[in-house]
Amino acid sequence: MPESITITDNRSGESVEIPIVNGGVDANEWKKLMPGLWFLDPAFGVTASTESAITYLDGGAGRLEYRGYPIEQLAESSTHLEVAYLLLNGELPNNEELDTWVEDVRIHTYLHENFRKRIHDAFHYNAHPMGLLMSSLAALSTFYPSAKDVDDPAVWHQQIVRLVAKLPTLAASAYRFNKGLPFVYPRNDLDYTSNFLSMMFSIAEPDYVPDPALRKAMEVLFILHADHEQNCSTTAARVVGSAHADPYVTVAAAAGALYGPRHGGANEAVLRMLREIGSYENVDAYVERVKGGDERLMGFGHRVYKNHDPRATIIKNAAHEVFEVTGKNPLLDIALKLEEVALSDPYFIDRKLYPNVDFYSGLIYQSMGFPTEMFTVLFAIPRTVGWLAHWKEMLEQESRIARPRQVYTGAATRDYVPMADR
Ligand code: CMC
Repeated sequence: MPESITITDNRSGESVEIPIVNGGVDANEWKKLMPGLWFLDPAFGVTASTESAITYLDGGAGRLEYRGYPIEQLAESSTHLEVAYLLLNGELPNNEELDTWVEDVRIHTYLHENFRKRIHDAFHYNAHPMGLLMSSLAALSTFYPSAKDVDDPAVWHQQIVRLVAKLPTLAASAYRFNKGLPFVYPRNDLDYTSNFLSMMFSIAEPDYVPDPALRKAMEVLFILHADHEQNCSTTAARVVGSAHADPYVTVAAAAGALYGPRHGGANEAVLRMLREIGSYENVDAYVERVKGGDERLMGFGHRVYKNHDPRATIIKNAAHEVFEVTGKNPLLDIALKLEEVALSDPYFIDRKLYPNVDFYSGLIYQSMGFPTEMFTVLFAIPRTVGWLAHWKEMLEQESRIARPRQVYTGAATRDYVPMADR
């Protein structure tokens, strides 16, 4: 017998039986029984905002899959652009499809010169690169007005290629501007990740090539960050996209959500926290402050993962490979001790708080030479693929505009009071 739930409206005694499909129940069914009665679920704790076939996440088991492929296998064997193709199109590409996709991305890496000369230059000299990136994404919308045609899949594809191709260029450009370094043009003879590292770090070398171990680590980090189903920024993308805004402003809105320290900004916050702790000996005292409610342990906890974050496990291994090239990050000992103390303390055990993706990624980024302000930008580059995959899926679903209800708790109707009588 198919599984179902029954809801009874005690005011009328009427009931409705709703089948459980794919682990969810259709709210439209109970809407028929109880029109005008809203389900209060701030922060979407128990609300599925959409059906999606992109990413599967089992928080209890610590499992993450893109289009059915376990994240561990993709991190081990794939490349970021291949994963991007998979997320965007549903299947792994064959040779020819991959070549076409990589070539499309490769020839769209350049930015209009106005970005560097006029748009970036308009910012304060020490502008946070995430603010710069978000503004640049919105600005791209004005360079590609045809993107407003959200009814045409060929137009979607064109903007997807542009965004995936230009993100590393925008990100590196924001960094160079922030540091007062000359802009490095994209090198289309390099692969996606090497080109990004070249735009970031090359100074005067005519043929900069990154260390293979660092390039591989970057590739793995991009894969791990590419999608994570209905997280805060992806939900922002789906909400803004549901209004039929163009993909550039849609992705800009998502980047704004990612910027927050509870979300993608956490990797930056982890580094600041480790620096604040300062030494191995101070870890216990810091953990006590967290337990006392004075601090949050940044890089710990997750709304969905209640066992372990599989991305954190992969990143921890990748960190050791990076440190073999760069030397050990001095903050690593503090991080390891913090993890050990937290994982054996009832406060964290009872609340099922484990290291998340951001706990170790910052240490890798720092060792590779990225300044702290770039960490969330490094998250935004691959996550743009996820935002776009969800934006495309949302348009294919012919979704309605996102428009939740509220439970009103304000004043009852009253008459306007003239100023003299207040
Ligand atoms: N440190 C200390 N206590 C915590 C933490 C933490 N990092 N996270 C949650 N708690 C406690 C919280 O105080 C609450 O305790 P109590 O029940 O006594 O009130 C309980 O655990 C449940 O927390 P919550 O705030 O209801 O959990 P949430 O699902 O709303 O928040 C979270 C999830 C990720 C925002 C939160 O765990 C957090 O702020 N973590 C630190 C920031 C962070 O690392 N974010 C990155 C998330 S993963 C990558 C990404 O999404 O971008």
